[in-house]
Amino acid sequence: MTAVLTADVCVGPLAPVSGADLRVPLVQGGDCTYVNFDYAASAPALARVTDRIGALLPTYSSVHRGAGYASRVSTECYEEARDTVARFVGARDDQVVVFTRNTTDSLNLLAGCVPGSTVVLDIEHHANLLPWKNSRVVRAADTLAETVRLLVAELCSRPTALLAVTGASNVTGEVLPIAALADVAHRCGARILVDGAQLAPHRRIDLEAWGVDYLAFSGHKLYAPFGSGVLVGKRDWLDAAEPYLAGGGAVRNVTVESTEWAPAPARHEAGTPNVLGAAALAAACDALADLDFGRVAEHEAALTSRLLSGLADVGGVEFLRLWSDAPDAVGIVTFTIDGFEPGEIAAYLSAEHGIGVRDGRFCAHPLLTRLGRPDGAVRISVGLGSSSADVDRLVDAVRTLVAGRRDWGYAKVGGQWNPVPETRFSTDALL
Ligand code: ALA
Repeated sequence: MTAVLTADVCVGPLAPVSGADLRVPLVQGGDCTYVNFDYAASAPALARVTDRIGALLPTYSSVHRGAGYASRVSTECYEEARDTVARFVGARDDQVVVFTRNTTDSLNLLAGCVPGSTVVLDIEHHANLLPWKNSRVVRAADTLAETVRLLVAELCSRPTALLAVTGASNVTGEVLPIAALADVAHRCGARILVDGAQLAPHRRIDLEAWGVDYLAFSGHKLYAPFGSGVLVGKRDWLDAAEPYLAGGGAVRNVTVESTEWAPAPARHEAGTPNVLGAAALAAACDALADLDFGRVAEHEAALTSRLLSGLADVGGVEFLRLWSDAPDAVGIVTFTIDGFEPGEIAAYLSAEHGIGVRDGRFCAHPLLTRLGRPDGAVRISVGLGSSSADVDRLVDAVRTLVAGRRDWGYAKVGGQWNPVPETRFSTDALL
């Protein structure tokens, strides 16, 4: 549970991130400092992450493939990153860290290793819905308690290898009771995978204490946008499965007739690995651990409570929530406004106020449909670089929109809302 903070608590950024001083053009002329409220899609790099990348670049070289000094340094750095991630998530000795491209990649990798069927909820991001080859989808109930009861019933109704569940919804931010779900899965003879894409940047994860078997998350949502993600999990399924990619690095020995594959993690990391991506992710893990997740949660709680109360004061705003009894939510506020399409609101915030948000169905189409928003919504997602001043700019902009005081015209062309005329980009800039 996060600390309870009132909406009038003012907070500044909690840590320096890239792009904090970015100036962006406004459609009506002039420019302003950009407000990034799209952390849930891709968070900006932490300064500590970019510093680490800068320091590593001179010794950047091949990993596991060279005797040269730089190659040895790169290899050590890559393997150290694995240890750092394992510590960050409280991995057990029987769990292994595999570097991937992102959460979607990690979940597709694991889907190829599951020796049986998978149970999922209908609230999941597509990355945790689509990869499972043999899945049963449970419709979430109106309360979290009832949803857990439905999951238990489904898990116990027939043999299940895996319960695959998100740690926090990418649409509503609501946090799921992972330790309780792990207990339920194990009692029904299943393992549990947590899609930690939205949880890992916001709350401390403890695989050992929670009894979680598999975890996936992305560097690009964890302030390390350098192309890496991870799958952490029990070695036995990973060692028994076909390699995710066939190629060099994933083998012990190859003859023309046969291949002896290496065990995990190498088994699933064929090809030259992304050493800078792995090092960036590890640097972000260290930075977040040093910051302390209690402070991270307090910072977010101050911002989301200010957002919720500010927007609630503007007529016609409706928030998306799944459960009345969810005990906690990460820094995500998703809403619609009567009389405006989500894409129109997002285009206006960007064009006239320099505020970046995400609109649409957030790669969670079934969830948006069941929340009664098949045409989408607007999502504000905050992070370490966000401040109360950013929230106030957003709330003022929404109030101006609802009051009918837009400065510009907007049109939907080819499904996308744009200001008309668009004055911010030259044709060259768009190409
Ligand atoms: N999954 C990311 C999001 O929710 C892309 O925006």
